[in-house]
Amino acid sequence: MTITTHQLTHWKQQGRMIVALTAWDFAIAQILDQAGVDLILVGDSLAMVALGHQTTLPVTLDEMLHHARAVRRGVQRALLVCDLPFLSYQENSQQAMHSAGRALKEAGMQAVKLEGGHPAVVETVAQLVQAGIPVMGHVGLTPQSVHRLGYRQQGNSPEAGERILQQAIALEQAGAFSIVLEHIPSDLACQITQKLSIPTIGIGAGPHCDGQVLVTADLLGLSNRQPPFAKVYTNLRETIAQAVQMYGTEVREGKFPEM
Ligand code: KIV
Repeated sequence: MTITTHQLTHWKQQGRMIVALTAWDFAIAQILDQAGVDLILVGDSLAMVALGHQTTLPVTLDEMLHHARAVRRGVQRALLVCDLPFLSYQENSQQAMHSAGRALKEAGMQAVKLEGGHPAVVETVAQLVQAGIPVMGHVGLTPQSVHRLGYRQQGNSPEAGERILQQAIALEQAGAFSIVLEHIPSDLACQITQKLSIPTIGIGAGPHCDGQVLVTADLLGLSNRQPPFAKVYTNLRETIAQAVQMYGTEVREGKFPEM
């Protein structure tokens, strides 16, 4: 069974939590898919966790599609969503259509994600949806706006919270199939989740969303530093370093390969 956007809405109605994670290559994508992750996001966080950039801003659409194609080859079940990177959709709806179209046509993605909820983005979402391209929204902390907003929690005054709620409503009305709520207070995420009929996927937004997403490199302990809301489930940096040291020792001591 391949998961569809409609399945996610059905799960929201049933109260069945949606499990989402990011992937950037074939191996990670295949492991996540076989472990039962429902939605795999080729997030532009790959700029930081796979390409070593300081922010998500430098990654290009071509680079995103290169990774997305590798992820596509590893996935059979999960819904595949690709982030449109910084300045690949903000100029106008035509630019967004071209970029989103490439993600579907050239990389086999099933949907795209756009950051922000101001009127220009909402208009773009409406046009993409009308063209048959499923769109995921993303409000609250939007890393592509780091130089304007920083990595601070968003929506923690009544006015700012109301603004994010209205953005989420506008994105739903524009036809988004789901919305990522990043680093906002838990009670605001709860309010948005109750108000919308499309599923909310939280990251640093508390337990009351319809699903959760993490950057997989954070969960695996592969990142140098994690955001405060991430949970590190294992320390792969340490595991890999130990394996590499054992290999180095065995090669130097003539123990590998065996005679
Ligand atoms: O790029 C990304 O990994 C994301 C998640 C943080 C939701 O957008």
